[in-house]
Amino acid sequence: MSQHTAGLAIETVGLVKTFGETRAVDGVDLAVPTGTVYGVLGPNGAGKTTTVKMLATLLRPDGGEARVFGHDVVHEADDVRGRVSLTGQYASVDEDLTGTENLVLLGRLLGHGKKAARERAAQLLEAFGLTEAAGKQIKNYSGGMRRRIDIAASILNTPDLLFLDEPTTGLDPRSRNQVWDIVRAVVAQGTTVLLTTQYLDEADQLASRIAVIDRGRVIAEGTKGELKASVGAGSVHLRLRDAEQRPQAAQVLSRTLDARVQLEPDPVALTARLGAAASDDSAAGQAARALGELARSGITVDNFSLGQPSLDEVFLALTGHDTQDSQAATATTASKDEVAA
Ligand SMILES: Nc1ncnc2c1ncn2[C@@H]1O[C@H](COP(=O)(O)OP(=O)(O)OP(=O)(O)O)[C@@H](O)[C@H]1O
Ligand SMILES: [Mg+2]
Repeated sequence: MSQHTAGLAIETVGLVKTFGETRAVDGVDLAVPTGTVYGVLGPNGAGKTTTVKMLATLLRPDGGEARVFGHDVVHEADDVRGRVSLTGQYASVDEDLTGTENLVLLGRLLGHGKKAARERAAQLLEAFGLTEAAGKQIKNYSGGMRRRIDIAASILNTPDLLFLDEPTTGLDPRSRNQVWDIVRAVVAQGTTVLLTTQYLDEADQLASRIAVIDRGRVIAEGTKGELKASVGAGSVHLRLRDAEQRPQAAQVLSRTLDARVQLEPDPVALTARLGAAASDDSAAGQAARALGELARSGITVDNFSLGQPSLDEVFLALTGHDTQDSQAATATTASKDEVAA
């Protein structure tokens, strides 16, 4: 890869990073269009953070090439650093300082004058809903507030490319939504975002394209629509009034939907996994049809929900194994490394 492709914020070819015997990143090719959110989806230990660190010039690749806005991350690392910012999985704000103090300090370190640093800090705290918490020490922030101040700290200077490494892991739904809104606002201002996540719904909400990685390799890449078409549209979960109607309900579901029907341990519950082939038809449309058929067959449904495919389901569909297997595999190699070390 000697030439930069116009319109790409990130290009990698055959990117590799090894730690002892572990190939944490094992030949990753990425092409991230400028001005979009690109999702990197994978379970624990897949190689997400390692990839991000190489792209942000914090780790040196052992093989392959990576360019950020056309600059090589090894040979032109300074040019890359000038244009990117990273919100890490384990962030960098000082626990003992207040929100304002952190942002002002970081602003000063970035070369802003005192007044400009104060103004920018106040502006970001306001934009991120942290004005009331501005005078509190970070150690007293909730998880959601903490994540928001981390992102605020990383966009003191509006970067051309922002790396967000699992920005919502461990947050409650409300805090996740706040972070999502922030990400949307950042992209609306022209910043390209590379977002890593373990949640398919997060990638679905934010990203235009998604790469699924497992054990250091990209196992699927495409738009959300393409990914869903290969994975299936989600699951319909049902609870019936009467357990005796369950066999009949299962029949109706498999007849109406292109779905695999699974009987749950709870005797009134069943789940239908919507198939890939039916994904032109929206998941909601399919579910509505199924409910209609059940009612016509005289089956009483007490409770119903429609879920998107989980990361586990994505993995099962793409790899034939679930994320737990991936974690077990990486855990084994990691512990081998520890023994060796
Ligand atoms: N500094 C290191 N030394 C040794 N092994 C490492 C190091 N950093 C990462 N690894 C290993 O490399 C693999 C990929 O790790 P990485 O942190 O990139 O995964 P991840 O996708 O970010 O996972 P998570 O979702 O848990 O953050 C794992 O097997 C991990 O144990
Ligand atoms: Mg990580």
